[in-house]
Amino acid sequence: MNDIVENAKKHFETLVKEQLERVDHMKKAGDWTDYSKLKPIIIGLVGGDGIGPYITRHAQKILEFLLKEQLSSGAVELRIIEGLTIENRAKVMKAIPDDVLEEIKKCHVLLKGPTTTPRKGDKWPNIESANVTMRRELDLFANVRPVKVPELGIDWMFFRENTEGAYVLGSKGINITDDLAIDFKVITTQGSDRIIRLAFDYAAKNNINRVSVVTKANVVKATDGKFLAIAEEIAKEYPQVKWDDWYIDIATAKLVDPARQKDFKVFVAPNLYGDIITDEAAQLQGGVGTAGSANIGKEYAMFEAIHGSAPRMVEEGRAQYADPSSIIKAAALLLNHIGFVDKAKQLDMALDICATYEKKLEITGRDTGATGEEFAKYIMDTLQDPNLEKKWKEYQ
Ligand code: IPM
Ligand code: MG
Repeated sequence: MNDIVENAKKHFETLVKEQLERVDHMKKAGDWTDYSKLKPIIIGLVGGDGIGPYITRHAQKILEFLLKEQLSSGAVELRIIEGLTIENRAKVMKAIPDDVLEEIKKCHVLLKGPTTTPRKGDKWPNIESANVTMRRELDLFANVRPVKVPELGIDWMFFRENTEGAYVLGSKGINITDDLAIDFKVITTQGSDRIIRLAFDYAAKNNINRVSVVTKANVVKATDGKFLAIAEEIAKEYPQVKWDDWYIDIATAKLVDPARQKDFKVFVAPNLYGDIITDEAAQLQGGVGTAGSANIGKEYAMFEAIHGSAPRMVEEGRAQYADPSSIIKAAALLLNHIGFVDKAKQLDMALDICATYEKKLEITGRDTGATGEEFAKYIMDTLQDPNLEKKWKEYQ
């Protein structure tokens, strides 16, 4: 019994020390990267697992098309990063192999396909998710996910904390005995401050008069309580932005309440709650396959498809029919982030036209629909249409 308690104490001690170091590191964080000062801006393309390499290739074609001039003048470089596959990760028993991480860190921004997240009982060792590791290693603290459903009047922006909460020690819980398992949830002042501030800044800059803070502070008192208390303080700095606080359960219900859903605008939430409500929100928009996700830190940023790697599609020989919309949406978020705001807008409009309004092609995930390549070509044809904006406006 004493040994068990001693071991648990030691384990906890290590975690506390690591987290205190992380806090120190956050306190020293530098300024935001100024992409206008970089030459070239290096965009890393990480295919990932399953359908990832297929859909990423289509997004790459679109980026090459939109950035033709910048690529030939050397203002931008596209760099393919190989090796972030589950086979390699299992071989070295690391969520991101060291050599791959080194290559990743030489890029400024990344476009990433889905990576397999192992779980107990899989054919793969139960190593940490590559996503979670990358977000932590590159300190990508803000997971920014837009969701729009014009016919329901929904125009939401989610700011999900991306580096702490239930995730940061998600692989470092303890099975104290056969009967007792304990996981840890971590919330820090610095980690909360930076994500909440980003949400309020976004609202203020875009004249949006509402930020909804989502926690379960009534039950999870220390960590969620801290997140909410910091939100209360930061809100005082933005008197022009109204804010409200919601518990995750009722927020989840109200997102699908036709009488209330239109009123929400900007959300900010700790990691796991953000994970859950962004999938719910994406579903209202047409499924997670239609959503894009930006993972933003001060130094690096990574943009990804938010769906899984669909290994079954590859096994059944259907990978060419995988829908590349989510990663193309992510590519638009990437363009916007590195300063190509007009190109990002054009790509967003083309995506809206091709995937939602005009829909000349339908993707079904099988040979009953279009291939990803045909869809990417449809997007590029639409981008070349001189009446792109006019056409898009007609649908609004
Ligand atoms: C997401 C995904 C990831 C997460 C998984 C793949 C680890 O669900 O990006 O939302 O839980 O964050
Ligand atoms: Mg998720």
